[in-house]
Amino acid sequence: MKLTRRQFGTAVGATAMSAAIGKPAIAQAPMVIKFSHVVADDTPKGKGSRKFAELAQKYSSNKVKIEVYPNSQLYKDKEEMEALQLGAVQMLAPSTAKFAPLGAKEFEALDLPFVFKNTAQYVKTVNGDAGKWLMAKLEPKGVRGLAFWDYGFHMVSANIPLIKPEDFQGLKIRISGSKVADQYFRQMGMIPQIMAFSEVYQALQTGVVDSCENTASNYYTQKFHEVQKHITIGEHAHLCYAVITNAKFWDGLPADLRAALDKAMVEATKYTNDIAAEENATSLEAIKKSGKAEIHVLTAEQRKAWQVKMEPTYKWAEGRVGKEAIDLLKKASS
Ligand code: LMR
Repeated sequence: MKLTRRQFGTAVGATAMSAAIGKPAIAQAPMVIKFSHVVADDTPKGKGSRKFAELAQKYSSNKVKIEVYPNSQLYKDKEEMEALQLGAVQMLAPSTAKFAPLGAKEFEALDLPFVFKNTAQYVKTVNGDAGKWLMAKLEPKGVRGLAFWDYGFHMVSANIPLIKPEDFQGLKIRISGSKVADQYFRQMGMIPQIMAFSEVYQALQTGVVDSCENTASNYYTQKFHEVQKHITIGEHAHLCYAVITNAKFWDGLPADLRAALDKAMVEATKYTNDIAAEENATSLEAIKKSGKAEIHVLTAEQRKAWQVKMEPTYKWAEGRVGKEAIDLLKKASS
């Protein structure tokens, strides 16, 4: 009988049966779980997924092998969601800006501008009622939310300094998928365009877009700072991920394996969240040292001007993510 890879991996009785009928035991092949993501290996998400792989292997006594595919090696942004639902890949960690294709656009509430004052507030929010409420939205789509991973605040860049809202006028900006981000940049007078992460560098280099937003770690590892002359730290929005899996696949795992993976995920989440701030700080230093882009840090007054300009996004977002999501976030971050 030809076993599929998944059946082979879960045929836990095979070794015991060989022993019972007096045949030499055949070493059990581990179950292979594919974990795909779009960023570099040397980022909090890259390191977090590898940490999860290492721990999952350890806690399952090598019964599972997590194969991590970074840098859109397997799938680009939108494709990976489809692949998860089809069962072609088992684990992903997309940014919350990318959940609309799953039919869970409520996740975009986490992209609201100036909603989190600091990372501690973000962590409290996603680990509280708001986070649970969001993860529940995935279940009817056949997707299970396993954890939120932090990635810190966005920076924004162009070939001119972006300091005052007027500076943004008419610039084409790449966004990752969130209509909330689309809206706050429209409030600033920009022309947003959704584009896969793997295409951003070239789009900036060739002038297809003028601008982008991301964390310091993503700028550095994708070399965006080499094709953008000015980067502004305004902390207008936060980048976070939800680690997700195919619910049918997860529920079909033997209980001991699922427990091992759950334990590995708790520890990998703590590890990832613990290194995120430091990774961004190190990347920012490296960008400064490269001398390729000038870094601008907004004053409180300049930041306030951005906030005022982006504020209408909240009213607009009621029709996109629902008032309940916005109220939950406001409550959690107050
Ligand atoms: C992006 O597409 O800009 C990022 O969200 C990629 C990532 O996963 O950090």
